[in-house]
Amino acid sequence: MSPIIRTRGVLDHGKFSSTAYGKVAFLYDFLDRISGDACEKTRNLFLGRFTQCRNALEVGSGTGRFAALFAAKDNPGELTLNDLSGEMLERAQLKLAASGWKGRCYLLPGDITRMETDQKFDVVILHFVLNMFPVGDRKEFLERCAGFLSEDGTLWVSDFLRPKYFWPCLISQLNWWIAVVLFWALARNRPNALGDLEKVWEGREWIVLDKKTILGGIYGSYLLQRRHREKPASARDAFRPPP
Ligand SMILES: C[S@@+](CC[C@H](N)C(=O)[O-])C[C@H]1O[C@@H](n2cnc3c(N)ncnc32)[C@H](O)[C@@H]1O
Repeated sequence: MSPIIRTRGVLDHGKFSSTAYGKVAFLYDFLDRISGDACEKTRNLFLGRFTQCRNALEVGSGTGRFAALFAAKDNPGELTLNDLSGEMLERAQLKLAASGWKGRCYLLPGDITRMETDQKFDVVILHFVLNMFPVGDRKEFLERCAGFLSEDGTLWVSDFLRPKYFWPCLISQLNWWIAVVLFWALARNRPNALGDLEKVWEGREWIVLDKKTILGGIYGSYLLQRRHREKPASARDAFRPPP
């Protein structure tokens, strides 16, 4: 039984993209490989950092390439894999089984923006997922995913970035648009722009625990934690007992 028990319907995934990822599941690992293992390097950036993790949720797990590596290196007790496409999840399940990992795996097919639960996760992973959403919706999507975090939980975001320098930026844009055209042609996935991801968690709500980039900033990984909200001084004073 999956731990996610209720659904909600405020955000409509159709607003984000008309994803039919199941259609590209068979090609997905191949596309991943011809990316020159850049995705694999991005996945590796923080592996082994969560060896105390009891339960992790990967949103948009795809065919489970990240999940299998994470299970092998960090050995979480429980791993919940979510994806819009059941076909992706089936492949992910096979990879996890083949990895020899002994923990418990839950599969959670469907649109994550429509789900909520009382169960909280130590780590929530967004691996090449945030960029799938239109720039204007990314903050809201991040918030939705962060809703699954325990109080001190960590959000791990890895994705394409828009580098600061000309050549990496050009390569990154080319890379991105090739992927967009391919995914549109194969699965009618609506194209989105490559935005400045750091803007998504910019502000007082988030602390960036760590950040690592590769290939001149073309890909990167971030560990984020929600800042604990302190009560305003006036509210604290109101409850202070008289001397
Ligand atoms: C580019 S793939 C990344 C797959 C995997 N995380 C990886 O790094 O190999 C994006 C995945 O996100 C899934 N996805 C997109 N929107 C989603 C949503 N709203 N809820 C759940 N999964 C979603 C897609 O089905 C697809 O498998």
